[in-house]
Amino acid sequence: MQTIKNRIAEQLYQGVQSINPASELTKEDLVGMLEYPPDTTMGDLALPCFRLSKTLRRSPVQIAASLAEGLKDDCIEKAEALNGYLNITVSKDYLGSVVVPEILEKGDRYGAQSFGDGKMVVLDYSSPNVAKPFHIGHLGTTVIGHSLRKLHEFAGYRCYGINYLGDWGTQFGKLIVAYRLWGSREAVEQEGIDKLVELYVRINNAIKGDEEKGIAPNAELADKAREEFHKLELGDEENLELWKWFVSISLKEYERTYAQLGIAFDSYKGESFYTDKMPAQVEKLRDAGLLKIDDGASIVDLSEYDMPPCLILKRDGSTLYPTRDIAAAVYRKETYKFDKAIYVTSAQQCLHFAQWFKVVELMGYPWYDQLVHVPYGTVSLNGAKLATRTGNVVLLKDLFALAIEKAAAIMDEKNPGLENRDEIAEAVGVGAIVFHYLSNTRMKDINFVMEDALSFDGNTGPYVQYTYARACSVLSRAQDVNAASVTVTTEEEATLVKTLCRFGERVTAAIEDYEPSYITRFILEVAAAFNRFYHNCSILGAEDEQVRASRIALTQATKHVLGNAFDLICLRKTEKI
Ligand code: ARG
Repeated sequence: MQTIKNRIAEQLYQGVQSINPASELTKEDLVGMLEYPPDTTMGDLALPCFRLSKTLRRSPVQIAASLAEGLKDDCIEKAEALNGYLNITVSKDYLGSVVVPEILEKGDRYGAQSFGDGKMVVLDYSSPNVAKPFHIGHLGTTVIGHSLRKLHEFAGYRCYGINYLGDWGTQFGKLIVAYRLWGSREAVEQEGIDKLVELYVRINNAIKGDEEKGIAPNAELADKAREEFHKLELGDEENLELWKWFVSISLKEYERTYAQLGIAFDSYKGESFYTDKMPAQVEKLRDAGLLKIDDGASIVDLSEYDMPPCLILKRDGSTLYPTRDIAAAVYRKETYKFDKAIYVTSAQQCLHFAQWFKVVELMGYPWYDQLVHVPYGTVSLNGAKLATRTGNVVLLKDLFALAIEKAAAIMDEKNPGLENRDEIAEAVGVGAIVFHYLSNTRMKDINFVMEDALSFDGNTGPYVQYTYARACSVLSRAQDVNAASVTVTTEEEATLVKTLCRFGERVTAAIEDYEPSYITRFILEVAAAFNRFYHNCSILGAEDEQVRASRIALTQATKHVLGNAFDLICLRKTEKI
């Protein structure tokens, strides 16, 4: 629609100039004013003329009438003035002879943008904490982050995906102590991350004690854990060995989940990588006079900006989460020369990011405004907060396994003997979860209900994947696709093409608002329009050869657009289900 809007704006611009040659309205302004009317019987695009009244010094009714008069373009079927609105209907001829061939010609590049050309984006997402369970709370950062990466790539940006593993900190002291007390090499090798989590939970419970059960807190264990972490920091060989092993075991498991999602990272440089890069930044903060000592700790006072202080060093001189983030940002700027650095985390970390972004600004780094925090709503499970200690979590691997199992069972029933059954079951099962998650706008708090996430009915991942497979099946039965002369005659065909050609705008909007759910919603609109077309217009059975060829071309165009959109939200393309 962007091209159509531009063409129309060009004409409108002439109209505006002839009403008032001194008007400062630009073509871009006019593009921005064109709206999609909620009721498409009025037209495909509308210009609310009251917004021009002031500059043009005429009534909206007069403006609409005069602009309608002058509008003439191949892409316009009808332009009507009504109650101060200019309603425009796009011509079916144009949809068939220009829009569909353009989609077919661009194929898997249809919808791609170029505003990111020559620019670099680094994205920090997923980033789980090693030895803590990888659960549904991490779904958001993982799939929103990856989708933003795909979207940026589609707009021309070079992207670098970073998994900033939580691989450093006192939790490793705890894990080392717990492992030596209660663990064994065999058990960890066999049970992997589950064993590590179990050990971690056990030592935390022991340290905290349990009032109800009359178990006193164990301060000695806490001291021991701190001591082991300190030894690790000093480079104690045995502890380093254990630490590396714990990290690699966790990583192996995360990678299994990432593979199911089709996600790969460019870098796994976690928190530990920045240990030796923090002192320089602390020094810089001190030199700039930004550090204040507060009760022995070093902080940056942010009261002037209505924020609590940003903690840089604890009383014992050890560094903190913000300190590491500052050092990591400086390193990334120097190393990757980003034009934008995106961080995707739960909204609970909003203050943390606002604080250290401000500190980076105060330090005088000119790129502070290239840092972008993309938060998302919190996830609860069956109405309750996620909590590892009470077991109120669902691990991603378990969730995916359940979904895949369900998909396989349905397929065995409906389509027994399907080739590549396991692969498709994985695509559909995982797709159901991803689509379910990305159906919500990013900031919405989500109450995760297993049955809903695993639902395959209604507006779900399996439904849109099935629609895609349906288009593929039509195409495999058609001999060839001929884009030379496509005619659009029915309303169903016209609506489908008009839906398809809004893709590019949705991509742009999704990037501007960091909102993958725009793509999810778009996919549902395309699926609905295609299914209406499929049911009401005979494709392969069309008697007229021209109509048949046109409808096949339209099916091919739908396949391209759906496929491109699937790629943007980590949904796998399923040729057969
Ligand atoms: N590991 C952190 C967590 O699980 C998320 C890290 C986000 N990225 C960052 N640069 N702080 O909460």
